[in-house]
Amino acid sequence: MPEQPADPVFYLTTPIYYVNDAPHIGHGYTTVMGDILARWHRQRGERVWYLTGTDEHGQKVLRKAEQNNTSPQDWVDRLVETEWKPMLQTLDIAHDDFIRTTEQRHLDGSQAFWKDLYERDAVYKGGFSGWYSVGAEEFVGDDDVRDGEGDDDGFTVSVLDGSRVERVTEENYFFRLSDYQQRLLDLYEEHPEFIQPESARNEIVSFVSRGLRDLSISRSTFDWGIEVPWDPEHVMYVWIEALLNYVTAIGYGTDAERFEDTWPAVHLVGKDIARFHAVIWPAMLMAAGQPVPHRVFAHGWLLVGGQKMSKSKANGIRPDELVSEFGSDAYRYYFARALTFGSDGSISYEDMHARYHADLANGLGNLASRVAAMIGKYAGGQLPAVDSVTPAEQAIIDLAATAVADADDAIDALAPHEALASLWRIVDALNGYLADQAPWQVAKEDMKRTGTILATAAEGLRVLAIVLAPIMPKATEILWHSLGADIALGPLADQRIADAARWNQLPMGATVTKPASLFPRIEA
Ligand code: MSP
Repeated sequence: MPEQPADPVFYLTTPIYYVNDAPHIGHGYTTVMGDILARWHRQRGERVWYLTGTDEHGQKVLRKAEQNNTSPQDWVDRLVETEWKPMLQTLDIAHDDFIRTTEQRHLDGSQAFWKDLYERDAVYKGGFSGWYSVGAEEFVGDDDVRDGEGDDDGFTVSVLDGSRVERVTEENYFFRLSDYQQRLLDLYEEHPEFIQPESARNEIVSFVSRGLRDLSISRSTFDWGIEVPWDPEHVMYVWIEALLNYVTAIGYGTDAERFEDTWPAVHLVGKDIARFHAVIWPAMLMAAGQPVPHRVFAHGWLLVGGQKMSKSKANGIRPDELVSEFGSDAYRYYFARALTFGSDGSISYEDMHARYHADLANGLGNLASRVAAMIGKYAGGQLPAVDSVTPAEQAIIDLAATAVADADDAIDALAPHEALASLWRIVDALNGYLADQAPWQVAKEDMKRTGTILATAAEGLRVLAIVLAPIMPKATEILWHSLGADIALGPLADQRIADAARWNQLPMGATVTKPASLFPRIEA
């Protein structure tokens, strides 16, 4: 019998982060949103590969190391170990791989990709003279610079992001980007989902419609980078090398079978770097004869006090500052719920504090502890039987099924904020159901009916534990155990989204215990 082809891999990536400094919550944002998506797909039972990592070459990192009187290799080694990898722990990220661009596999894969480009005549050598922004690691066109003012007086700055630019005149290799205008426009036309959301798509389409120039892709005035395989006088331009991480991490040039099995990817990026991912990257892949990514999704800025958060503005909050106070689950919940993925959004301590108490401590946490406490009090801690289902129970059963299906669709649309809004309808409905049914009153005269109400609430919590696991892995694990579900139904990780809302899964008599407070109150 012919072998069944394996299901395709859901391959998801974050940008790889510059290690010129420690991470702030802007970096944490992409990483958490990606983790929520990856965990949801795993909870569906899909094959998932979630990649993140660090971008370690280039002048920005080199200069930072020099300012700190150390070698770039020492600098990146130290920062990756003391800051970037710990951030993943802090945020409870279940990544499958972490790539550093200083690793041998990335060097080998990048050189293999360059050789492929060279053999296919996609690169040529030429003279370059123009502006370069080290802050953005970007070549800036003559029309996109102006004279600096204030602190930048006497310097030339980029109009794109205000960073200072320097005049660069050197011999470079060029990539024939101009050959790809029509093929890119066709790609955006035929696959409208390729670059999302609509705002990013419009910007990219209009940018490419204006015409593309060949792109300088090597540097020859410093050596902190990967050598061009046939010309060691040059190192690869850091962006070109960085984009390659998405393929070198899965075996490009080193493990063809693995590469074929995993590629293409869905890329999550900030909107500032959408152009690199939606214009240059697919063109490079086309030139190398490889499939383009499934999707590039550009999210917006985290704004703090109305301004884009960044290290240089000193409004760069570290993820651990918030996690130490609210915990990783609440952090993940807040960023996924309070912001529309794909748009800019303001965050504040006050808002996070308020949502923590309203949604988590009073909403979900209180629900879980009340239900378990009542099962303890009225049923000796054993899940009661459902006697007869009235319209009130049926309404909960139906709502749970719809809410889970809606959330599942929202995840496919890369809208975790909508998924959470859907799932919270279950939390709100269960709280309303308990208030209406008042089992503490019913218990005075009708234990069968009390049992039905508590068993229904417990089933609702079981559904919530499964579908909220990708967002809040720690609290849902506690909830799962408190419902006795691990013993009755097996590990939480083995529960499938598709079956989550199937009713009456917790068996009568399951041992229900009061969970440790899921979201304890926090003083402001
Ligand atoms: N190294 C490049 C990416 C190479 S990917 C092949 C880079 N690194 S970065 O560290 O400067 O930024 C990476 C990403 O961090 C941004 O695209 C974005 O995802 C995220 N953010 C940085 N600041 C942010 C905010 N204030 N708000 C939201 N996300 C932000 O660019």
